[in-house]
Amino acid sequence: MKIQIFGAGAIGCLFGYMLQKAGYDVIFIARGRQLDALKKGLKITGLVDDEIEINVCGKACKADLTFVTVKSYDTAVAARELEGRTAIVCSVQNGIGNEDILAEKIDCVVGGVTTYAANIVEYGKICYTGKGVTFLGDWKGEGEKTVAEILKRAKMNVEIEENIRRKKWEKAIVNSVINPLTALLRIENGKIVEIEEIWSIAQTIAREGERVMKAMGYDFDAVSAVREVAIKTAKNRSSMLQDVEKCRKTEIEAITGEIVRKAEKLNISTPVNELMLRLVRGLERSIAFSNRDFNFEY
Ligand code: PAF
Repeated sequence: MKIQIFGAGAIGCLFGYMLQKAGYDVIFIARGRQLDALKKGLKITGLVDDEIEINVCGKACKADLTFVTVKSYDTAVAARELEGRTAIVCSVQNGIGNEDILAEKIDCVVGGVTTYAANIVEYGKICYTGKGVTFLGDWKGEGEKTVAEILKRAKMNVEIEENIRRKKWEKAIVNSVINPLTALLRIENGKIVEIEEIWSIAQTIAREGERVMKAMGYDFDAVSAVREVAIKTAKNRSSMLQDVEKCRKTEIEAITGEIVRKAEKLNISTPVNELMLRLVRGLERSIAFSNRDFNFEY
């Protein structure tokens, strides 16, 4: 069983590390300075302290299973590169739309939502900050049980999710609250609930998301979900905050952008989500404008 990690960022490296340690033949796909660093090995700190040699490559290889862990704006590139090169793909990315893009090119697509947490410390080195659960569900071609068995053998927590589309929307709604606020205000996740003024905006964004989900036929208590995640990950710097700090494009389009576009179709007003979308787009443009090293690496 050959397993490929397409996108050797923090979560990709964590999954790849756990799978290689369990004895699987793993290849990591990376770019730029991360590719150069990983050729010398992968270092991991936090919940484990280790350094391993890995197989790393700059473009997609042949594999039985590929975990897609690139940023959502790179999913179309991933789909094109992976076409004809992998039997199963499993996306554990943030945002809405990744699985549909992959399903255009690949016959077996597993949808995933993970609450495992890791950060990039420097190129070639990650910090494993939280053991979580990975929820897997069928998107196309029924590969979820195969993927679940593999992750279980790597001692990772897995649950099969009957309605993975709903789970993806729930995660996106939570992200639509925590990620833009933390990125715009440059705060850790916990501050969202600790600071009253911020918490009141957070609740408004969450309630807009709840209304969109309700119109899709899903009941979801987004305010409680956001509170729980913000408290559990209080000391984390969200992925969007890290993107902004590293002068990288963010995943705002696949998170808030998708919610706003869905709301428009359903005739629901989401003014605060629209404001967040415009502010983060503006922030991205200001970074791109002021920083020549604006970088789109994994
Ligand atoms: O994108 C992230 O950072 C994470 O999904 C979350 C849940 C907001 C925790 O930091």
